Amino acid sequence: MTILVTGGAGFIGGNFVLDWIASTGESVVNLDKLTYAGNLETLKSLESDDRHTFVQGDICDRALIDSLFSTYKPRAIVHFAAESHVDRSIHGPGEFVRTNVDGTFTLLEAARAYWNGLEGEAKANFRFHHVSTDEVYGSLGPNDPPFTETNTYEPNSPYSASKAASDHLVRAWHHTYGLPVTTSNCSNNYGPYHFPEKLIPLMIANALAGKPLPIYGDGQQIRDWLYVTDHCSAIRTILAKGKVGEVYNVGGWNEKPNIDIVKTIIALLDELKPSPEGSYARLITYVTDRPGHDRRYAIDARKIERDLGWKPAETFETGIRKTVQWYLDNQGWVQNVLSGAYRDWVAKNYGDRAGA
Ligand code: NAD
Ligand code: TYD
Repeated sequence: MTILVTGGAGFIGGNFVLDWIASTGESVVNLDKLTYAGNLETLKSLESDDRHTFVQGDICDRALIDSLFSTYKPRAIVHFAAESHVDRSIHGPGEFVRTNVDGTFTLLEAARAYWNGLEGEAKANFRFHHVSTDEVYGSLGPNDPPFTETNTYEPNSPYSASKAASDHLVRAWHHTYGLPVTTSNCSNNYGPYHFPEKLIPLMIANALAGKPLPIYGDGQQIRDWLYVTDHCSAIRTILAKGKVGEVYNVGGWNEKPNIDIVKTIIALLDELKPSPEGSYARLITYVTDRPGHDRRYAIDARKIERDLGWKPAETFETGIRKTVQWYLDNQGWVQNVLSGAYRDWVAKNYGDRAGA
């Protein structure tokens, strides 16, 4: 048995592939374009493991996807591949529409053709799992209840709008064509192999380099953080027990303002890798806010717990300590991903952000 994973060289996809092979032993065909966010270094431990087949390619390439389906006959597809960074979507939305919308459409059409050709148990058991985000629901007020699966879609950034569009396509391919899909909408992930453009790894990398820690606006925006391997176990659970056509919200019940996250990282670094120049807190720098910045996300994860028995294993305290320690122990991985293209991005995103 084999599953097809898209975007398996990225942050969550990479953790998922490692976790899947370790916990199920089942083979993975991993299709990834290797954009700036894809990194084979993450999968180094699988280099000579024949349960992992890496294919460099684009999810918009229908002929390639057809050939992967016919060669490997996967029993399921888990779709992570996406452009995933809100700030990048503000600077260049086109690639988000291409990969997140056109790419998902292409995969759905290829999966539908393949699934139509299956028979019996293979057809009944086939699954298309779509990995999505809580950002499709928009922004919460301070006293609003967390997002449930029936919240209206109110995406505010080009990233969340493109993910919302992909969720709608997945839903329609089930309702119209019967394709056996499941979808998960997850809150912010953190953990090993996270590209240092996102809040947590950026703060760790900048602190260690003695660079400013840029806090957008007042730093009181709230995100609901989930340790990445908990997201992986949620997806495994949905694949095994999820009901076709259902959506599952996945979250860690860890709502925290950004400034608290940064202060927690600083406290851990002060303990684990103290700087001769004093606390890393000296590096906190308030900068101009992100345009259209969503104030608060929070996930109500009761459905997946009630229906499928899934709960996160990590608390924020255990997960963030593991994460900071991982970055301290894996500076080689970080240096490898900080290419010239990364430096260009930092100049573009932070260069003209006046200090607030
Ligand atoms: P990431 O940016 O780290 O990785 C994305 C991967 O997709 C990269 O390896 C990249 O090379 C690949 N890719 C991009 N365009 C491609 C294309 N056209 N064809 C093939 N491969 C392509 O993203 P991530 O943080 O690992 O997120 C994975 C998925 O999870 C995304 O769908 C994202 O929307 C969703 N998600 C992320 C979070 C989060 O906190 N990071 C939370 C909820 C949901
Ligand atoms: P991010 O990791 O980009 O995830 P998302 O925007 O998808 O939630 O950002 C998390 C939060 O941290 C978000 O409110 C924006 C904020 N942030 C900063 O304050 N400074 C930064 O340099 C970055 C990258 C993010």
